[in-house]
Amino acid sequence: MTNKQLLDLLHTLNTTEKLAQLTQLNPVCFGGDCITDLTGPDFGLRVSNEASIAIGSVLNCDNASDMIELQKKHLEQDPHHIPLIFMADIIHGFKTIFPIPLAMSCSFSPSNVEEAARIAAHESSVSGIHVTFSPMADLVRDPRWGRVMESCGEDPYLNGVLSAAAVTGYQGEDPSFPYKLASCVKHFAAYGMPEGGREYNTVDLSYGTLRDIYLPAYKAALDAGARLIMSSFNIVDRIPATANKVLMQDILRKEWDFSGVVISDFNSVGELIHHGVAKDGAVAAQKSMEAGIDIEMMSTHYLDHIPSLIEEDKLSIEHLDNAVLNVLNLKNDLGLFENPYKDASTEQEDSIHLSPEHRAKARRIAAESAVLLKNEYILPIDQNKKIGLAGPFACSPHVLGSWSAGSTTGISLYEGLLQSFSPDCICLAATEELGCSLDGISDIPPLNSESLLSLEECETVIVAVGEHQSDTGEGGSKAFLRLSHNQENLIQCLKSMGKKVVTLIFSGRPLEIAPILPYSDALMQAWFLGTESGNALADLLLGKVNPSGRLTMSFPYTTGQIPVYYNRYATGRPATAENAHTRYVSRYLDCPVSPFFSFGYGISYSEFKYTDFSISTTRPLTVSITVHNCSARTGIETVQLYIRHISSSVVRPIKELKGFKRIPLEPDESRTVTFPITREMLTYFGKDSYLFEPGNYELMIGKNAEDTISAIIYIDDTLWAV
Ligand code: BGC
Repeated sequence: MTNKQLLDLLHTLNTTEKLAQLTQLNPVCFGGDCITDLTGPDFGLRVSNEASIAIGSVLNCDNASDMIELQKKHLEQDPHHIPLIFMADIIHGFKTIFPIPLAMSCSFSPSNVEEAARIAAHESSVSGIHVTFSPMADLVRDPRWGRVMESCGEDPYLNGVLSAAAVTGYQGEDPSFPYKLASCVKHFAAYGMPEGGREYNTVDLSYGTLRDIYLPAYKAALDAGARLIMSSFNIVDRIPATANKVLMQDILRKEWDFSGVVISDFNSVGELIHHGVAKDGAVAAQKSMEAGIDIEMMSTHYLDHIPSLIEEDKLSIEHLDNAVLNVLNLKNDLGLFENPYKDASTEQEDSIHLSPEHRAKARRIAAESAVLLKNEYILPIDQNKKIGLAGPFACSPHVLGSWSAGSTTGISLYEGLLQSFSPDCICLAATEELGCSLDGISDIPPLNSESLLSLEECETVIVAVGEHQSDTGEGGSKAFLRLSHNQENLIQCLKSMGKKVVTLIFSGRPLEIAPILPYSDALMQAWFLGTESGNALADLLLGKVNPSGRLTMSFPYTTGQIPVYYNRYATGRPATAENAHTRYVSRYLDCPVSPFFSFGYGISYSEFKYTDFSISTTRPLTVSITVHNCSARTGIETVQLYIRHISSSVVRPIKELKGFKRIPLEPDESRTVTFPITREMLTYFGKDSYLFEPGNYELMIGKNAEDTISAIIYIDDTLWAV
C-alpha cells in the first residue's frame, strides 16, 4: 500500500477499530490455548469470543495451523481486512535451540549470532510469526538477576555489535522477504540494572552512565534496522520507562529518529498504577500514549479508556492516529496486506524445523560458546579409557535454558558421549536431576556409601552440575549463587577418592565457583547450550573441537563482591599491587577487587603468546600485536583491544573494550593483529554531550580484561586517517 492508501485506511477507522490496532493479547484471551508461559497476569482478560477482531496483534501463538485459523477468522470479520500481526519471544532459536544468548556472546562471534538469528527466523516464520521480541540489548552487571542469560553480558561495545548482528540475522535485507522476521529490541531502557539483581526492581543510575554504558546497544540494534522497540518495566530517573518522555520522545524519536513501532512490555502500562504515577487505568493509558507507546501488550487500558480521554479532550486524536499509523506501516512493510499469512505453512514446518542443517550449525555454535576456565593437563579426555559421568546434568535433556518454549529437550551429555564411547565404557553415578527453586527443590539427594561405587574403575570423572534451567530467565533472581550443598559435596568426594575431576557447570549466569575450583582438575562453563548441547560438549571434551569461548560477564568470588565488572570507573584510591597492605584504599579486607574470572577470560587446548606490541602514529593511528600459537594444536584466539582515557573532563572507566578479533592459528603459526584507532572509539558522553577530547590514552591489547600489554600515547585530531 502507498502512504496515501494507509492514511486513507486510517481515516476510515473508528476509535475502537483504531484501538484494536494498538492492543496485543495472547490467544488465551480470546478463547485459544496458551502454549507458552504467560510472564505476567492475564487478569482474566477475555475479549469477546469473535474477538480477535478487537485486537491488532497476537502474542506468542506458535504454530502455523493456529495462526492461519486465527488470521482467517479475523479477516472474515474485520470490515477493513487489516491483518493481525503475530509477535513472539523467539530468543535463542525456535525449534532448533541455540545456546542461551549469554553463552552465544562468549563466542565473540557476530556471525554466530547472526546465523542463529537467521535460522530462528526461518523456523518461526513458517510457523506464522512475523515479529520476534529479540534481541535483548540490556547490559548486565549482576548475576543475581535471572535474565542475564538473555543478554550479551557486561560490555557496551560487544553488546552493541552482537545485538546488531541478531537484528541482521532476523531481518535480512528486508523483513518482508520470505523467512524473515521484524526484530523488536528490548527492554528500553536499562532493565538490566535492577537493584540487588531482583527482578522488576528499581533502576537508579546517573544520566551519564545511562548514555555512555546502557544506551549504546539499543541504538546499535536500531541502527541495524530493528523495526520495533519494547519499553522496559523499570523506572529511569524515577519515571517508569513506559511513561518516560525523555526516553521515548527526546532520545528515541527525536535524537535517534526512530520511526518504527514502540510496544509496551507485558502490562507495563497497567503497572504505572503500581509504580504510583497513575491513579487509575485512564491515567496510565494517557501517560503511556503521550510518551509514545504504540502497542499495549497484555492489558486493555487503551481499549478501555482512550475513547473517553479523547472525548473529554484529555488526549489529542493525533496521538492516537500517530500510533495507529506506526502499526499500519509495520504491517504494510511486512507485506501483510498482500499476504496476511506470509510464510506460515504446516508442510514447511515439518521440513524446516530441526533440520539436519540447522542442527549442525547449532552444534558448531554451541561448541564455540562453552568456556574452558581451568585445565590441569587433563583435557581432552582419553577416548580409550573408561570414564565416569556423574551429577544432575550427566543424563539430563533439560539443557535448553529459559526462553526456549518451542522445544523441550536437547541432547544430554551422556547421549553426546555415547557417540564416541560404548555404553560399558561410561560409568554413571549420582545422576538424579536437580529440581527447581519454585517447586521448593534446591538440591540433589545427599550421597550415601553406595552412590559412587560404580566409579571405582574410572581414573577420570566428568561431573555435570549447575542450576535448573527454570531458575534462570525472567523471574529467576537469586540471592545465593553457590552450587547446592550436595553438588559441591559430590565434587569434593570425587576428588577425595583420588579421581581426576572434570567439572562442567550448567547455568544461565556466572555462579560462585571459587569453592569448587580447587577440587576440579578441569572446569568448563557449559551454560545451557541448546538442542545440540551434549554433542557439542562431547566434541570439546574429546578434543574434536578446541575450546574458544571467552567470558562476557565477570565471575564473582562471592555474592558480596557483586556488582563486579571490568569496566568500572576509576576511583580516587585505587587498589594496586604496591598498596596491597594499605587499609585506606578501595578494596575489601576479605576478598580481591578483581573478579574470580574476568571479562574476556577463557583458555583452550592451545597456548598463545603475545609479542611485539606496537603503536604506529603515522596516520591512521594503529595498535598491533603478534600472536603465536606455540602448541601443537590448531586453535582460535580472541585478541581484545581495550582503551582508557587518562585525563578527561568526567571520570571514565579504567578500560573499555573497543575491538576484538577472533583468529584461527595453526600450530606454530604467528599472526600480527592490527587495530585502527578511530575517533568514534574515543567519543563518549561527557557532561552533557558526545565528544572526543584530545589527551593521553592508554591503549591495551590482551587475552582478557585483566591480562593486557599497554602503552600510553597522546591523541589529538591530527592522528585520524585523511
Ligand atoms: C518480558 C518480555 C517478553 C514479554 C512477552 C515480558 O514479561 O519482559 O521480554 O517479550 O513478556 O512474553
